[in-house]
Amino acid sequence: LTGGPPLNVLFAGRFDVAERQAWWNALRAAAPQCHWQRDDEPFDRSLIDAAVVANPAPGALAALPKLRLIQSLWAGVDKLLGDATVPAQVPLARMVDPAMNTAMAETALWAVLALHRRFFDYAAQQARAQWLPQAQRRVDKVSVLVLGAGQMGSAVAARLSAQGYGISTWRARDAVPLAPLLATAEIVINLLPLTPATGGLLGASFFAALPRGASVVNLARGAHVVDADLLAALDSGHLHRAVLDVFHTEPLPSAHAFWHHPQVTVLPHVAALTDERSAAQVVAANLSALARGDVISHAVDRARGY
Ligand code: GLV
Repeated sequence: LTGGPPLNVLFAGRFDVAERQAWWNALRAAAPQCHWQRDDEPFDRSLIDAAVVANPAPGALAALPKLRLIQSLWAGVDKLLGDATVPAQVPLARMVDPAMNTAMAETALWAVLALHRRFFDYAAQQARAQWLPQAQRRVDKVSVLVLGAGQMGSAVAARLSAQGYGISTWRARDAVPLAPLLATAEIVINLLPLTPATGGLLGASFFAALPRGASVVNLARGAHVVDADLLAALDSGHLHRAVLDVFHTEPLPSAHAFWHHPQVTVLPHVAALTDERSAAQVVAANLSALARGDVISHAVDRARGY
């Protein structure tokens, strides 16, 4: 380290009590050289050099005159970029956590296996005491399209490919047209960052471009999906099933049609939780870089949106 004065670091966000304490312990253990402050206790806003945040309340990062780094504990920074009170000139780093990429690959593998081998359908059949074996298809005959080729999209594509699935990938920033890829995809997994270019992408024309009987897995952000269009595509029988981890409003409101839809599987935004042990090391490395005046890792390109 520099031998300069210790950084004053604010830990801010919305957690349950146990989660907050686990993060607090992990972060202080990983960067003991910093002076740590927490947003649920009084602190001096004029002293804060860096903020480590998870889903902070709007306005939480305003009026911090010395702020030089915002480190997200979340991989997706769409909410931070959408909050006009987050200072636009302060470098913002997203979380890149290898343990989170692994967890995302596990969730994708579970969803794809359950779709391919009809395990969701068998669970529904059990609820009706219905014994009805279905054809067993070879893994290499199942084509999966992964949307997004970043940290998570790449980890998911590698895991599914190792499992034997036929994988194609698409990135929003490439000029490659999406429709031909959709036309041959049996399962689509969304891992795109949410940006103005990708919001609402999974809408009526997207679903119509998929072959009849295709399924959709959304592990990215709820706002990628036009809910009414997805429900229409499921209800018409065009789509077989949707596995959804993320929603426009979270928690998913109890009256939402997804909860009880027979072709929808709902997860409570758990596809890949940030792992506090590995993520705290990532945070500590960026705080050291800030203290030394070095380049911050995983800085968000605000114009690009991730
Ligand atoms: C979770 O959705 C994250 O962005 O880390």
